[in-house]
Amino acid sequence: MQDHKTIYFKDYLPSPYSVVSCALEFIIEESSTRVENIMEIKRCDPNAKELRLDGEMLDLELIWVNDILYCEEMYTKTEEALILPLDCNSARIRIINRIYPDQNTALEGLYRSGGIWCTQNEPEGFRRITYFIDRPDVMAKFTTKIIANKETCPVLLSNGNLRGTATLENGKHMSLWEDPIPKPCYLFALVAGDLGSITDTFITMSGKKVDLAIYCDRGNENKCHHAMRSLKKSMEWDEYTYGCEYDLEVYNIVAVDSFNMGAMENKGLNIFNSHYVLADEETATDTDFMGIESVIAHEYFHNWTGNRITCRNWFELTLKEGLTVFRDQSFSADMNSELTQRLDDVRALRERQFVEDAGPTSHPIKPDHYMEINNFYTATVYEKGAEVIRMMHTLLGRERFRTAMDRYFENFDGQAVGTEEFLWAMETQSPVDLTQFKRWYSQERTPTLRISVQYRPDSAELVMKIIQNVPKNAQNKEQLPYAMPFKMALLAPDGSEYPLISDDITLLHENVLWIENQIHEICFKEISQPPRLSLNRGFSAPVIIECDTIDYPFLMANERDGFVRFEAAHRFGIETLESMMAGNAVNEHYIESYGAMLCDPTVDPMFKSQILELPTITTLMQRQEIIDVAAIVKVQEELKRVIARRYFTELQTMINALFDPSNVLIDGESMGKRALKNRLLGLVMSLDEESIRYLCIRQYRESLSMSDRLSALDLLENYAPNDVGEALNDFYSRYKDQTLVMNKYFGVCASSRREGTLGRVWALQNDPAYDPKVPNLVRALIGSFARNPVAFYEVSGEGFRFVADKVIEIDALNPQIASGLAGAFKNYGKLSVLQKAQMAMELERIKNHPDLSNNVFEIITKILEAE
Ligand code: BES
Ligand code: ZN
Repeated sequence: MQDHKTIYFKDYLPSPYSVVSCALEFIIEESSTRVENIMEIKRCDPNAKELRLDGEMLDLELIWVNDILYCEEMYTKTEEALILPLDCNSARIRIINRIYPDQNTALEGLYRSGGIWCTQNEPEGFRRITYFIDRPDVMAKFTTKIIANKETCPVLLSNGNLRGTATLENGKHMSLWEDPIPKPCYLFALVAGDLGSITDTFITMSGKKVDLAIYCDRGNENKCHHAMRSLKKSMEWDEYTYGCEYDLEVYNIVAVDSFNMGAMENKGLNIFNSHYVLADEETATDTDFMGIESVIAHEYFHNWTGNRITCRNWFELTLKEGLTVFRDQSFSADMNSELTQRLDDVRALRERQFVEDAGPTSHPIKPDHYMEINNFYTATVYEKGAEVIRMMHTLLGRERFRTAMDRYFENFDGQAVGTEEFLWAMETQSPVDLTQFKRWYSQERTPTLRISVQYRPDSAELVMKIIQNVPKNAQNKEQLPYAMPFKMALLAPDGSEYPLISDDITLLHENVLWIENQIHEICFKEISQPPRLSLNRGFSAPVIIECDTIDYPFLMANERDGFVRFEAAHRFGIETLESMMAGNAVNEHYIESYGAMLCDPTVDPMFKSQILELPTITTLMQRQEIIDVAAIVKVQEELKRVIARRYFTELQTMINALFDPSNVLIDGESMGKRALKNRLLGLVMSLDEESIRYLCIRQYRESLSMSDRLSALDLLENYAPNDVGEALNDFYSRYKDQTLVMNKYFGVCASSRREGTLGRVWALQNDPAYDPKVPNLVRALIGSFARNPVAFYEVSGEGFRFVADKVIEIDALNPQIASGLAGAFKNYGKLSVLQKAQMAMELERIKNHPDLSNNVFEIITKILEAE
């Protein structure tokens, strides 16, 4: 049994020693790699007597301190560290060790993806490469010499600028890289292999030339162009928006197939999951193209928010991730539609982060303890972290926010800092004191604002009462109210806005309130008629609104704030479905408002496709006390059929008008039309209609765009069991050799609502295209199944058993991927007695498994403790 240690923020101490420089030499051989590491060490704490270097799974060969070869008696070596007595102010340490990238299935440190050698060191992977002080506040200048076989490894890359290459004897060659900018070791990267590439250049705002390259498996070069365009747009945007210029001579991106995450911002050498680089119209969906643009931007933006200014320790992760997500979201909004982007971001936040925040693994965006830091790259640290930054942006306004960012860059460039430093910079520009606002960093859970109003016709006043409720945290402790900007409007019958006039409220800008108290009462004056409420415009605060006096049909028809308009449809949909679940007939008013939106030719197609989406199973599950997936699916499908029947003619006409199978353009208009058409097709497919099924088959066969083809396949899978076989076979034989497309195939099968999904997933594990060592494939097959509520919560409990088996099996290979999968059990506390007993058995079985990783142990114990 391992000891599962908890690490606390309060125990943080600066490192007693620093590493000034680190010269690395890698000799890459077929079955192992030899690493030589020469470090200049400085003592920072004059009382320090012992240097502790992190190191795991390393074969230590030789070690010298100040050119003295040490024998085993002169140091202590444990499973996790090398401890050297060191009572001097500076020292030169030279270490030679050996590592085995081929046996590395955890994909941390140096490993092999396909034939390519590559690295992943955030957060604590570098200790699997060589001995080092592996923490983000230790920043060193790195140089890297790589020696490998010239034929099998023509490409040798590391961080920084290329300083030399040479051909060596025995068919070897070498390259030497120098990174002039000190960095923590989690940003170190190395790539070696036989790769294809595309290249380009970028001239920075001060006129410096940067060589750009994107590397990938040979044969995929023509799928890299969208990524390259995205990179250049990101570089330009960061100069224009924040004055941030790139600082090296080269910027390299490498796409690999085996990667635990989406991508990694290593200095000058980003390593990407190939899913976020490779795309063409035939094999990538519109969502894939958008994803590439935003992930390329995200990693690029880290160069300033993450690399030049990094985190003092891993508790501060949101400093770089929340901020960089906010930056990539702003970029995507500027490149595409601001409203579409906002709706997608809010949707993702509520479907993932709100669920996490309400469940057993909830934590503040800045956690104060962890067992395994890899478990904290969460929707909370990322997406809620980005919302917290966005609230400051709303509070300060664009210009003052930019000034505050300038302060942040000026004051902390080259340092490892925390959120306190960031907040200091914001505070210099803030119109209000941020003390209470900072609770967003230390508290968890989503607050609810209960809003009620009273209109006084005699005085033409509206009194609005806001009661904030913050749930107890995961340790069952009371929490305090949050401060937030709250954007709202009061609408006259024609949709115009009353000016907000009030004595007793902080009005930040014309329609943004600053809310701090647990109970807030505000009196708005000069409101000549009872107004309609437009609340939390643009989703200015990440909260849940409860209000009984919102006029959904009015807002759906007249509101100018796109978010509130969307929200009205969304909430109206939720209420309609919940009422149906309670046994009531379909709300006729909803069907009418839906139809009005559907038939309104002035609404932008992408927005229309977003607003016409019915509330998802996840959304409705979240609101249930005891989860009942079958009940949700039943009313969802019924509502779809009612709408489809009522507007059948209109739907058919619109679908036909939008049907454009040869359009493969990736512009906003084409993407919007595809999204809308596929949304509408989904509605009519719920009816058992021959003509519609035929249309769907035609779309599958004739579409040249993967978005259309995949949507058709998914609809056939769920609604046309007799026709889907042929389409699935066709899809398989076309794409069986393209792993990124096979992810989609596995995804469609494992997400199916049809009976027998578990059996099919089971069988697909033996498909030649499947490999449990490749995270993308595990996520596509096993992950999709675990996220498929219909199959996972199926009454026999076999879904639970299957996923538990996979968690155990994959944990032995890759703990990070296994703990992601273990999150599937997060609704444990909300199950019926029977289902809870079934899941309890599986959770205990996982927990008692010998040699369980910290990663899985932490997640499973939190879930079990919560209820
Ligand atoms: N720094 C992370 C990558 C990372 C995360 C490495 C966890 C090691 C452990 C990177 O910047 C990142 O955040 N990537 C995201 C994508 C991004 C667009 C949110 C990812 O990989 O999911
Ligand atoms: Zn990031």
